[in-house]
Amino acid sequence: MAQTRPKEITLALMPGDGIGLEVMDAAETVLETLRERHQLPLRWETLPWPSTAWHREHGEMMPADALEQLRGYDALLLGALGDPGPTSDPKRYRLSDGISLAPLLTFRKGLDLWACERPARLLPGAPQYLADPRAANVDMLVIRENSEGEYVNQGGRLRPGTVDEVATQLEVFTRRATERLIRHAFRRATERLKARHEAGEIRDYSCARSGHQNAQVCLITKRNAQPNWGEMYTEVLDQVAPEFPEIGVHHELVDAACMKFVQCPWQFDVVAASNLHGDILTDLAAVLSGGLGVAPSCNINPDDKSQPALFEPTHGSAPDIAGQGIANPSAMLLTAAMMLEWLDFSAPAEQLRAAVAKDLQAQQQGDARARTTREVTRGIIDNLR
Ligand code: IPM
Ligand code: MN
Repeated sequence: MAQTRPKEITLALMPGDGIGLEVMDAAETVLETLRERHQLPLRWETLPWPSTAWHREHGEMMPADALEQLRGYDALLLGALGDPGPTSDPKRYRLSDGISLAPLLTFRKGLDLWACERPARLLPGAPQYLADPRAANVDMLVIRENSEGEYVNQGGRLRPGTVDEVATQLEVFTRRATERLIRHAFRRATERLKARHEAGEIRDYSCARSGHQNAQVCLITKRNAQPNWGEMYTEVLDQVAPEFPEIGVHHELVDAACMKFVQCPWQFDVVAASNLHGDILTDLAAVLSGGLGVAPSCNINPDDKSQPALFEPTHGSAPDIAGQGIANPSAMLLTAAMMLEWLDFSAPAEQLRAAVAKDLQAQQQGDARARTTREVTRGIIDNLR
């Protein structure tokens, strides 16, 4: 496929709420440094929406034509949405989660960003919550279905508020969305295998369906209790797997997967999960990789790079520490690295990842004093030099 890159790549920076503003500030400073260093054809605009502050002024989280406006950008970087904090101010303007977080779901659906990728790799120096020393080797990529499943929000409430109330919440799984998700998981597993090969790293995964292999796709379902979609997912896995003989095939029920993420997380490579299962598993995976302070995330359409992808750290607006300048910008900077990679700026992406990793490692060896967002950012920029 011929690749045409537009002359100049335009980003929309959306700081959002709470610590989103602080970590976006860090991202912008780092992007400026990288742009200069690598002569990147990058420009960006900072948007005041979506945000609680915008809602306060306009009565909505973002303008009605927000999606249309966003389609004009090449990529979107979002800080965080939710309670803007600080929690010490009980009179602050705040909204229900349903309102403040809705733009996230609107962007994912409206821009057809059907895959959510959340890598969980424990970088040396990041907090290791599991005692087993093998947990230092956590390096998985959870790919979450991002367009349907449990998030279609169909159904309703009958006789609300009465003792006879009935709530229905429909789940929708299509073969098309399942197949593209699973094929994408195998492609990513193939890329990861190649990268490990080039780095001289060999991993061994025991795969229930194909024995020991050096790479793995693990499918998550709850097919023992929810057989309709669970069996369709399994059949699609069986249909796609033979196209990728180098990749081992594994399956876990979601409850067992939670247990094994804690018991032996190094046994997972690429994990493909439904929207809700992926949501839950990625919070767990974030902790395995050092916590929300270092967990990046992106929403992409792997088939169609003309749709602007949305990059956002897994963490939220952290109202408890918002405004204090102490938010850890690492997750945001690793997210920015994912964005640069997606835009085919691989060298700066790799440099940024390495600079964040070096900072974490230096912290492990150095003083344990809590640092400000600016101090961490400065340290990472110094590592870029
Ligand atoms: C996430 C969040 C969202 C989700 C919420 C805020 C709707 O938890 O990005 O993981 O469930 O997808
Ligand atoms: Mn979540």
